[in-house]
Amino acid sequence: MTEQVLINEVGPRDGLQNQKTAISTTDKLALIKALVDAGLSAIEVSSFVSPKAVPQMADADALFAQLPARERVRYSALVPNLRGLERALAAGVREIAVVLSATETMNQRNINMSLERAVAVSAETLAAAAAAGLRCKAYVAVAFTCPFEGAVDAAVVRRLAAQMHASGATEIVIADTIGAADPRATGRLMSALAGDLGAAQLAAHFHDTRGFALANVWASVEAGVRKFDSSLGGLGGCPFAPGAAGNVATEDVVLMLEQSGLRTGVDVPALRRAIAFAEQLVGHPLGGRTTRWLQSQDRRAAATTSN
Ligand code: COA
Ligand code: ZN
Repeated sequence: MTEQVLINEVGPRDGLQNQKTAISTTDKLALIKALVDAGLSAIEVSSFVSPKAVPQMADADALFAQLPARERVRYSALVPNLRGLERALAAGVREIAVVLSATETMNQRNINMSLERAVAVSAETLAAAAAAGLRCKAYVAVAFTCPFEGAVDAAVVRRLAAQMHASGATEIVIADTIGAADPRATGRLMSALAGDLGAAQLAAHFHDTRGFALANVWASVEAGVRKFDSSLGGLGGCPFAPGAAGNVATEDVVLMLEQSGLRTGVDVPALRRAIAFAEQLVGHPLGGRTTRWLQSQDRRAAATTSN
């Protein structure tokens, strides 16, 4: 089975939105360039949200104005409302994602809206973005477990996904925001959604809080999903979801999928250079589950050359 998988690198957004260290626009651009050089063909650059809510993303406009021009790269941004869409359009953004959470409380905490209002605002934002010719995605966050309300009913997620699809989102990103999903629940939900909308309309976004993220990626692959969000070195978290650890690490997803016969187009040595740069920016070590193994390979290679 040689099949292409699209990796959407969310480190610059999901990763950096949570960092305590302020990172300059120039450093973010250098990080994005390193990711492009590593072969990532989809990158979530930033979010056009309130700078009071997420100060780390306040430079979204400046960032988009200076992105490395690459035809093959899909650069995207999160947009919570029409004000965000207006800013995104002015910045020349071609692909946006709205963010809806599956529970009442999570919508309140994240975007200060009831679930009903969040659905309406997301739908109007998608419609306006589609009319402007943008590629539109919709996140369904806390799709398995909510940090405030607990287990989430799969029927609610399926209904929201269908509503967002009908409102103009051509890709629905199912997000395990706090990393609480397990492979069986993932397989069931993804298979149901693939039946509802078609697997080509789906993407998945896992956090690695419990160490199950790779298993969940694989369960999604088996359900037909071929698009995944991940973050370099597992950088990430959510400022509004207590207990959320970083995203599944891009290098882990790439190594697992490539060894399993799928193709990602990502160059792991170049990705590791991007991770080393990100470590300097955030001031702490990064790396997913494969880090120790990768380091042992480095030591083996060094020993062979010095012999
Ligand atoms: N970009 C920039 N500023 C925005 C904005 C946007 N997309 N949307 C609203 N604002 C501004 C308003 O102009 C207003 O500014 P003022 O106080 O100077 O007048 C202020 O934010 C409040 O606007 P309001 O419409 O009342 O929004 P709110 O306070 O209810 O917040 C959101 C709603 C959605 C803007 C805010 O909760 C948010 O940005 N959340 C993002 C959360 C996020 O990124 N989470 C992580 C990713 S999932
Ligand atoms: Zn996330």
